[in-house]
Amino acid sequence: MATIYYTGASLDGFIATPDHDLSWLVTRALDPAGPMHYEAFAAGVGALVMGASTYQWLLDHLDEVGGAWPYEQPTWVLTHREFGEPPGRVTFTDAPVTEVHRAAREAAGEGTIWLVGGGDLVGQFFDARLLDEVWVQLAPVTLGAGHPLLPRRVELELLEVARNRDFACVRYAVATDGGG
Ligand SMILES: NC(=O)c1ccc[n+]([C@@H]2O[C@H](COP(=O)([O-])OP(=O)(O)OC[C@H]3O[C@@H](n4cnc5c(N)ncnc54)[C@H](OP(=O)(O)O)[C@@H]3O)[C@@H](O)[C@H]2O)c1
Repeated sequence: MATIYYTGASLDGFIATPDHDLSWLVTRALDPAGPMHYEAFAAGVGALVMGASTYQWLLDHLDEVGGAWPYEQPTWVLTHREFGEPPGRVTFTDAPVTEVHRAAREAAGEGTIWLVGGGDLVGQFFDARLLDEVWVQLAPVTLGAGHPLLPRRVELELLEVARNRDFACVRYAVATDGGG
């Protein structure tokens, strides 16, 4: 099954401000059952992979994501940091992304692997030819600076476009022939 980067982003290609603020994203209107929203996507997710800053943001904002660790699926956090006892089924690792992907693949079974972010982490999976799709919910805002969506040159094939209230939602396949 596919390995997918699913994320919200600003129109100018950032997933967080320089100081990890996401208020520009979480305050926008989104139909939870609407096109390309998380509920439909999440139903197919078998394992998650995220970077240390994304994990830290979640820990710091559990109240905004329902009060508890929001994911039932096994989750790998790539990090060199010493975090405390994790909530949920979280594994901390600094293993090569190929090994992390193998473990996530095994755990996910028929499910998809959700690369939560950040952008460079997803880029590492792309470098290892392990990224299949990119789904982006574009918020109606530019930030000017921040943490980049995907700091690589990645050729993509457009699969789907939808409006979900405030968001322009786009879904791409990573081009296997280099695209363009
Ligand atoms: N808009 C959205 O929907 C969305 C989605 C996801 C994330 N975000 C936000 O975007 C920001 C992303 O932060 P970020 O750009 O710093 O990315 P990140 O991937 O969350 O964190 C980067 C850190 O992960 C660790 N890491 C990455 N690759 C690694 C590897 N191969 N081995 C070991 N450790 C590795 C490193 O931390 P250490 O070496 O220090 O451990 C690195 O500094 C966060 O604020 C997050 O909340 C937003």
